[in-house]
Amino acid sequence: MPDLEDLHARVASCTDCALYKSAINAVPGEGSPNAELMFIGEGPGAQEDAQGRPFVGPAGQVLNQLLASIGLKREDVYIANMVKHRPPDNRDPFPGEIQACAKYLEEQIKLINPKVVIPLGRHALAKWFPKDTISKVHGRPRRVGELTLFPQYHPAAALHNPAIRPALEHDFQEMGKLLRQEDIPAEPETPEESGGQQLSMF
Ligand code: URA
Repeated sequence: MPDLEDLHARVASCTDCALYKSAINAVPGEGSPNAELMFIGEGPGAQEDAQGRPFVGPAGQVLNQLLASIGLKREDVYIANMVKHRPPDNRDPFPGEIQACAKYLEEQIKLINPKVVIPLGRHALAKWFPKDTISKVHGRPRRVGELTLFPQYHPAAALHNPAIRPALEHDFQEMGKLLRQEDIPAEPETPEESGGQQLSMF
């Protein structure tokens, strides 16, 4: 898809925040331009930075296994991050960095137009639901504007705390079932409840 390639090229040369200075590569995102599922992580780690590809390290292996458990491959979905350059020493992205990068994520969502967007972990969750915690809202489809969101634990959380893995596996199974439905039942979300960003399309 030319628009997606153009976006990836713009991300690769982006200097809108300071993260590009310490990064080796930009990590714009990858996958099918026709994906029904779009996963949004936090930001690239060391291996992602080295390869310029999202979720290729240990968390990526967990994601691959979870995808396989519902009969999907990476190529079937689209994988992106809140910030497209690696934060130094894997620190949390700063709000200003997330803000500077938001335009790329919003464009990716518009271009891919997935059936379900899956915020992985608290940083991605906070874009839409800043008042919620992932432990409370994971695995529940919710609607914001035209988007259907299905928040899930970050796969890295299952590496740090194996007790989270069954919840991730369960949520993936539920998501797989939802995907087969024509209309996905989802809780409506009001701006008052969520406090999330209310963009015209989202
Ligand atoms: N963690 C993320 O949030 N994103 C990646 O791309 C890799 C690990």
